[in-house]
Amino acid sequence: MRYLLSTVVLMLTVVPVSAQFAIPRDAKLEAKVEKTLQKMTLDEKIGQMLELNLDIMGKYDANRVWQLNETMLDTLISKWKVGSILNAPGTRAATVAQWQEWIRLIQKKSMEYIGIPDIYGLDHNHGVTYTQGGTLFPQPINMAASFNTELVKTGAEITAYESRAANCPWVYNPVVDLGRDPRWPRIWESYGEDAVVNAKMVTAQVKGYQGDDPNHIDRFHVGTSTKHYFAYGAPWTGKDRTPVYLSPQMLREKYFEPFKAAALAGTLTMMVNSGSVNGVPLHASYEYLTKWLKEDLGWDGMLVTDWADINNLFSREHVAKDKKDAIRIAINAGIDMSMDPYSVDFCILLKELVQEGQVPMTRIDDAVRRILRVKYRLGLFDEPNTGGKGYEKFGSDEHAKKALQAAEESEVLLKNDGVLPLTKGKKILLTGPNANQMRCLMGGWSYTWQGSNAEDLAEKYNTIYEALCNKYGKDNVILEQGVTYRERGRYYEENKPEIDKAVAAASQADVIVACIGENSYTETPGNLSDLWLSENQRNLVKALAKTGKPIVLVLNEGRPRLIADIEPLAKAVVNVLLPGNYGGDALANLLSGDANFSAKMPYTYPKEINSLNTYDYKVSEVVGTMAGAYDYDARVSLQWPFGYGLSYTTYEYSNLKVDKASFTSDDILTVTVDVKNTGSKAGKEAVLLYSSDLIASVVPDNRRLRDFTKVALEPGESKTVTFQLPAKNLAFVGADGRWTLEEGDFLLRVGRLTVPTVCRKTKIWDTPNI
Ligand code: BGC
Repeated sequence: MRYLLSTVVLMLTVVPVSAQFAIPRDAKLEAKVEKTLQKMTLDEKIGQMLELNLDIMGKYDANRVWQLNETMLDTLISKWKVGSILNAPGTRAATVAQWQEWIRLIQKKSMEYIGIPDIYGLDHNHGVTYTQGGTLFPQPINMAASFNTELVKTGAEITAYESRAANCPWVYNPVVDLGRDPRWPRIWESYGEDAVVNAKMVTAQVKGYQGDDPNHIDRFHVGTSTKHYFAYGAPWTGKDRTPVYLSPQMLREKYFEPFKAAALAGTLTMMVNSGSVNGVPLHASYEYLTKWLKEDLGWDGMLVTDWADINNLFSREHVAKDKKDAIRIAINAGIDMSMDPYSVDFCILLKELVQEGQVPMTRIDDAVRRILRVKYRLGLFDEPNTGGKGYEKFGSDEHAKKALQAAEESEVLLKNDGVLPLTKGKKILLTGPNANQMRCLMGGWSYTWQGSNAEDLAEKYNTIYEALCNKYGKDNVILEQGVTYRERGRYYEENKPEIDKAVAAASQADVIVACIGENSYTETPGNLSDLWLSENQRNLVKALAKTGKPIVLVLNEGRPRLIADIEPLAKAVVNVLLPGNYGGDALANLLSGDANFSAKMPYTYPKEINSLNTYDYKVSEVVGTMAGAYDYDARVSLQWPFGYGLSYTTYEYSNLKVDKASFTSDDILTVTVDVKNTGSKAGKEAVLLYSSDLIASVVPDNRRLRDFTKVALEPGESKTVTFQLPAKNLAFVGADGRWTLEEGDFLLRVGRLTVPTVCRKTKIWDTPNI
C-alpha cells in the first residue's frame, strides 16, 4: 500500500500538453471552464466531485408517494456543494412531472448556492427506464442481434429526447462489457461477446445520445456514461462483481476496444468497473484509469465510480485500510467523481487528504475541470432545465414504431423444420411461464432496477399471449402455462407445476408454443448456481413432446440457459432474448410471417456446462483426437454459434473478392461480396466479415469478426456489399504487449466463402493504440 502511494504521487500528471485529444477541444469552452475553476473554493471543488442518491433527500408520505425534502436538499447543496445526484426514488420510474419538479428544484438551489448546475444521472438504459410513459426499446443484447447500427443510433436518439423531456441530461449507458461468459448475470446489458460488435454499436449509440458535436450538446441530446470501464463482464466465478483474471493480450485486444471506440466517439463520461482485474481493483488502477484512458487516448472526459465503489476498496477488496485511505487511492488513480450514494463523508475526508498533501491540488483541479467541462458541454450553465414545449413526441406512436421495428429485427430464428410461419386458423396451445408476463419480456432496468413490481406501469403493452390473441383471435389461443412464476415476494421462483393441465389442453391444439426462459434480474440478484434452464420448464416441454403435437420453443432469457435435452423435441426455436415492450407484438408478427426474421446470435449458445466458449477461441482450444495412443481431444459442443440466425427466405453469397492479394500495414483492403435473396420473401441480411491469421507468434484466434453491415433485399434482388478494412485491424497484441501485424497468410471470410491475402511485411507498433 505504501508503494501504491509513492508511485502514484510521483506519476500524477494531467494529460500531457502534446496529447491529441479524443474529443477536439473548443477553446472558448475551455476558457469558461478555467474561469469557473479559478473562482472556486476547495469545498466547492470537492463538493462537485460527490454524487449522492436522491433517496436520501426525501421520504414516502402516508399515500406512499415519495416527497423531496426541500430543507434537506438545501443543506446538501448549500453546505456540501454537491455536484451531482442520481437515481429514482425506490428505483421505480417517476412521472415526467415529478422529474420536472425535483430536478428543477435541484438546479435552482445549485445555481443559487454554487453558481454551477447539478448534473442529474439516471439509468435510462434501453429507453427511459425511470420515466413512466416513455419508450422502452429491446435490451442491448437484442440490439446487437439486429446487427443494425442505424437502429441502435435511432434508439439512443429517442432515449436522449425522452430523457431531456424529463429534465435528465445524463444517462448511465451505453454498456460495452463484452458478454463472453453466460454465467455472468449482466451479459444482456451489452452487445454480446465480440469486441467489434460492441465497438461499432457504442459508436452509433454515443452519436445517437449526444448528437454530432460532443462540445455542444443540444437540449434534445444527453451526455453518456459508457460503462463499466473495463473487463467487468469476465468474473472468474461467473458471479457479479467478483475478480477477473485476463491476459494482457485479451485486455488490450478485446476488452479495451469498445471503450476506446466510445472515447473516440466522444463519450462525455465513463463509469468504472466495480471489480478487480488481475488483483487490482479498477477504482485503484492508475494504469488503467489515468494512463490507458486519459493519457494514452487523450480522453478529457470524466470518470465516475460505480455504486459506493470507493468504499468497496476497503470493505470488499481489502486494498485500503479505511474510507479515507480508499478515497486517497481512488482519486490519485484517476477517479473524478465519487458515487457515494448515502454519505457526505467523502467531502470531509478528501479535504483532509488535500490538506495533508496526500492528494495533490493538481489532481483535484484536474478532476473538477473534467466535471465542469461535462457540464459546459451539456449546455447546463445556459439552460439547466429542459422539457415542456418541444418535447411532444415523448412516448409517441412514432417512437413506439421504432421500438417495434427493433424488436422484430432482434428476435432470432434458430430452428425451423417448416412449422413456421404459423398460418392463421390454427389452434395454438400457449404454454410456459413467460407466456403472459411483461416483466420477462423487458428484463431488468425496466421501470424498476430489477424489473420487478412494475406490471402496473406496463399495462398498455401486450404480453405474448395478448399479442397472439390479437393476431390469431382469442378463440384460437389456449393459455395453459403448466409452469408459472410466483407473482409476489421471490417473484422469480416457480410455483408448483401443473404440467398435466398443459398436456390435457394440448389435445385441442394444432401446435404448441412454449414460452420458456428466465425472469427479470440484473447484477448480483441474477447470480446463478446452475446454467441449465429450470427443471420444471424442461419437464413441461418433455411432457408436451409426448403428445406428438409440433412444438415451437420461444426462449425469453437474458443469457443462454442450457436446453440441450429439450431442443431436439422442438420443430422450431425462436430466441426473443429481452425484446422490451413491443416484444410480444414483434413475435406475433414474426411467427405469423407478417414480418421476416433477420437477427443473428450476438453470442455463442453453449450446449454443455464444460463447453463455455466464444467464437473467437484460440485454435488450440478446440482440437480433435491426435494420432497414436493418446486421446488428447478437446472438443467444444455448441447449441448455436455466434452469428447464427435463420429467416423465411434464403440468401446466396458469391464473388467474395479482396482488392489486394498482398498488403502491408498502411493499406486498406477493399473486400466485396454479392448477396442475393434467393427465396420468395423480402428480408434483411446481416453480412459478417471475418478474418483468420493462419500462423502467428502468439496462438492465433480461430477467426475474428472485422466488420458487418445489414442489407435489405427483395426476392430475387442482389446487392454488392463493400467493406473497407484497414490492414492494421488485422494486428494482434504480441507476447510483449505490443500491437503486431506479422507477415504471412490471412484468410478473409463471408458466409461460407473465403479469399486469401498475404501480409508482406511485419510491423510492430510502439504506441499502445493504433
Ligand atoms: C450498477 C450500474 C448503475 C449504477 C447506478 C450500479 O449498481 O452497477 O450499472 O449505473 O448502479 O444506478
